[in-house]
Amino acid sequence: MVEKYNIKGGTPLRGEVNIGGAKNAVLKLMAASVLVKGATKIHNVPDLTDVEIMLSVIEQLGAKTRYNRSSKSIEIDASELTSVTAKYDLVSKMRASFIILGALVSRCREAVVALPGGCAIGERRVDFHIKGLEAMGAKIKIENGYVIAKAPKLAGCDIYLDIPSVGATENLMLAAVLADGCTRIQNAAREPEIIDLANFLNAMGADVIGAGTSDITINGVKQEDLHEIEYTTIPDRIEAGTFMTAVAATRGKAVLKNIFPAHLTFFTNKLLKMGANIKLISPTAIEVSCKSRLNTVNFVTQPYPGFPTDLQSMAMVLLSTANGVGIITESLYENRFMQVPELRRMGADIHQDRNHAIIKGVKKLNGTTLRASDLRAGASLVVAALMAEGSSIIENLYHIDRGYENFEQKITLLGGKIERFDSDITSSEDLKGVYNAGI
Ligand code: EPU
Repeated sequence: MVEKYNIKGGTPLRGEVNIGGAKNAVLKLMAASVLVKGATKIHNVPDLTDVEIMLSVIEQLGAKTRYNRSSKSIEIDASELTSVTAKYDLVSKMRASFIILGALVSRCREAVVALPGGCAIGERRVDFHIKGLEAMGAKIKIENGYVIAKAPKLAGCDIYLDIPSVGATENLMLAAVLADGCTRIQNAAREPEIIDLANFLNAMGADVIGAGTSDITINGVKQEDLHEIEYTTIPDRIEAGTFMTAVAATRGKAVLKNIFPAHLTFFTNKLLKMGANIKLISPTAIEVSCKSRLNTVNFVTQPYPGFPTDLQSMAMVLLSTANGVGIITESLYENRFMQVPELRRMGADIHQDRNHAIIKGVKKLNGTTLRASDLRAGASLVVAALMAEGSSIIENLYHIDRGYENFEQKITLLGGKIERFDSDITSSEDLKGVYNAGI
């Protein structure tokens, strides 16, 4: 049996939705917890399969973990570690687990971590992570698909990143926490998730300065300087952007709560230019509404504070029915237009040339059977199905479950018609029966 969504489009989303904790922040905080010889408690943890995978990685190291879903909190007790190995079966499921490398090198001065390999959206190399650790004195061998790092001496140094890589910045920050002396990361990533990690590290006794700028300094501290903490992670700006899209695309009106509006400036500006209305309701809530067909704008994905690649597929859904022609340029990943063939099957008019997509808005999309190819492309198909005429079936939900907690419950609360169902049906002929069932 496989799980699928059955979505009936055309209902404007209305009401209020609570945005959860940031997946891409909390996974790194979990890895950073391994630095402390003691217990760390993290709040506002979203209920996601990626969080479960990271818990398994940490448990394999010998740390004790407790996940309380009702209070959305996780406790990680890394007083004792019994292993320095992160195995391929877990790392291959989730690239973010590679971040454990920096934490292990920092605390244990050695690590054996599977190389994550490429993924659906691109090659996603880790050469900056490795080169940075080597510059700090780690001896690194790649054997049988594993990174084997030994660093009896780990010393701070100046590191310049060719690209402001989020993962490399985080891995090197973690490695530098317990290194000797001062590490300076130049051309560092500036994402809010980097600031969250720095705040978390500083709360536990580390000395990180400059996070949020492209020049981060980490003054190494001693193991005994690090202590137990309790910390609440930031809201998920990509989940927020997804719901902003869904509300605007369905011409609805809804309040998004538990967000940091400043983290969404990139998206708010674009949506306003397209003709949606966005009002600040409180320091942590906005109201999004849209009454008529949107105008087109162009999008270029960039590292923060530019337009995020993780919302590129959402921008495409908005442009697919906007009034005019819009161009999207994807500058971070080689293969992140996986939603294009599926949107075309819904009637979208999209011409793709390498990393550019030219989208000529059509009056409406039509529901059909759709397949999620990765997390963000999958979520964009859900949004497209919500605004389309007729019903859609969405397959491969496991991609979407990696990054959106209670997705269908939140959409249902806003009045969207969506159901998850178990199916062993694979042929589109058989699906006709499913369209008429349920919703
Ligand atoms: N890159 C290299 N070498 C490296 C590292 C990166 O060439 O050593 C390249 C990558 O191939 C990519 C670009 O640099 O083309 C940016 O990669 P980055 O390292 O910044 O991305 P990441 O850390 O692997 C995180 C998020 C992604 C998000 C990117 C960019 C997590 C767990 N993942 O990935 O989120 O797209 O930053 O903002 O934090 C998602 O949530 O759906 C997702 C893919």
